[in-house]
Parts: sequence; structure tokens; C-alpha cells
Amino acid sequence: MSSGTFISFEGIDGAGKSTHIARVADLFRQAGRAVVLTREPGGTPLSEKLRELVLHEAMDPLTEALLMFAARREHLVQVIEPALARGDVVLCDRFTDATFAYQGGGRGFDWQVLAQLERMVQQRPVDDATTAQAGHTPEASHTPHARHAREGEYPYLWQPDLTVWFDLDPLIAAERLASARVPDKFESQPAEFFAAVRAGYAKRQAEMPGRFARIDAAQSMEAVGADVSRIVNDWLQRSAA
Ligand code: TYD
Repeated sequence: MSSGTFISFEGIDGAGKSTHIARVADLFRQAGRAVVLTREPGGTPLSEKLRELVLHEAMDPLTEALLMFAARREHLVQVIEPALARGDVVLCDRFTDATFAYQGGGRGFDWQVLAQLERMVQQRPVDDATTAQAGHTPEASHTPHARHAREGEYPYLWQPDLTVWFDLDPLIAAERLASARVPDKFESQPAEFFAAVRAGYAKRQAEMPGRFARIDAAQSMEAVGADVSRIVNDWLQRSAA
């Protein structure tokens, strides 16, 4: 069983999440934990190549979803699983909720097909399942992963222990992005696309409420930062109890 901590950060483009991830890393380092900062799509040399393709080439929606999950599979196997097995803290700038929100919500791609791909790609190692069959239930193991696994129909999938969702009105996000760099394929989408992405995140939160923490990203940067610190500290206290 892994003993690490897996936290993902989500939100529509322009929600401002990236700025706050470094602060969370500092919180954990101050607590003496080793931190792996990573992102999706990306996080390994191959996954970063897939990122380049998927963020800049037009493609069929299923191809897009498959590439997101292909990049994720590499990232899980090469980076995330080993880090969690070492007991590290993995802070991931986007994970599977982004696929449900962008490809499912934004593009309107079949939610159930995404759920199938998720089950295929995020299956946990057999020894976790064996431990459960031997009578060590997720409840008994006290690992955060196992606790959150109970929410789903398929308990032995990798999921973040905590997902911090920076929720923002797409019109405000568009204003923020207007002054930013050259947009990629997703960033150049209209506000309606981001309204559908936002709805995708809300649907995902409703499906797995236990691991989601929503932050009002329309607040000042300081207020958002304070919320992020509070959420992470609360979560740490709960998971230590
Ligand atoms: P983003 O995380 O915003 O990185 P940066 O801050 O460098 O722009 O960019 C990644 C983009 O990829 C973002 O628009 C969301 C999109 N995306 C998906 O469409 N599906 C996914 O599964 C993931 C992980 C990201």
C-alpha cells in the first residue's frame, strides 16, 4: 500500500491555480515531506511530447481523449505511483477531472467512455486488491487513497486524495487570459466552452464529493491563497486523525 499523499489542482484556464501550487509545496516541505511537483498532460518525457501534440493539433475527440489518457498512464506508472510508494507528496497541476471537464464537459465527449478509460488506465496494483480480499478493508488500512476509493463503483483506482478546484466564472477567466500569453488550443476557446468545462467539474465533484474542495477563484490572490492553505491544513489534520 502506498503511504504518500496525492493532491491535484483543477480549474478552467485563467482560474489562477498554478500560482498557488508552489505555496502548497512549501507547506509540505516545511512539514518535512518530500514533494514531487508535476502536471498533466505531461510529467514524463513521453507525456510532455503528447502534451505538445494534444495542445496544438486539431484532432478527433476520441483521439484527444485517448492521448490524454495515454499521457496519464505513462505519468502514473513512471512518476506518480513510485512517488506515492516512497511516501512522497505528489502535487499535480491537473489530473483526470480535467479530462472529464474538458473532453466530457467542454467537447461533449461521452462521459461513460471516459469512465471506461479511467478504469483501464488508473487501475491500482494487484497487491492493493489482494490486501483487500484478504480482509484488510480500505477502512482498516487508514490510507487516504483507500478512503477515497470507497466513493467509486471501482474501489481500486488511483484517484487524488484531495482535489483543489479553483472555480471561476468563465467571463472573469476570459478577462484574465486576454492579457496573458499566446493561447493554446483550449485557451482560445470561447466562454461557452469554459462554461461547459465548469459544469463538467461540478458534475465530477457531485460524483466524488469527498475528495473535492472548491475555492472561489474570483477572490483576490491573497484570499485564494489563504483558502488553499486552510484546505490543505484541514485535510492534513483530518487524514492524521
Ligand atoms: P494548463 O494546465 O492550463 O497549463 P498552462 O498553465 O501551461 O497553460 O494547460 C493544459 C490544458 O490542457 C488546459 O487547457 C486544459 C487541457 N487539458 C484537457 O483538455 N484535458 C486533460 O485531461 C488535461 C489534463 C488538460
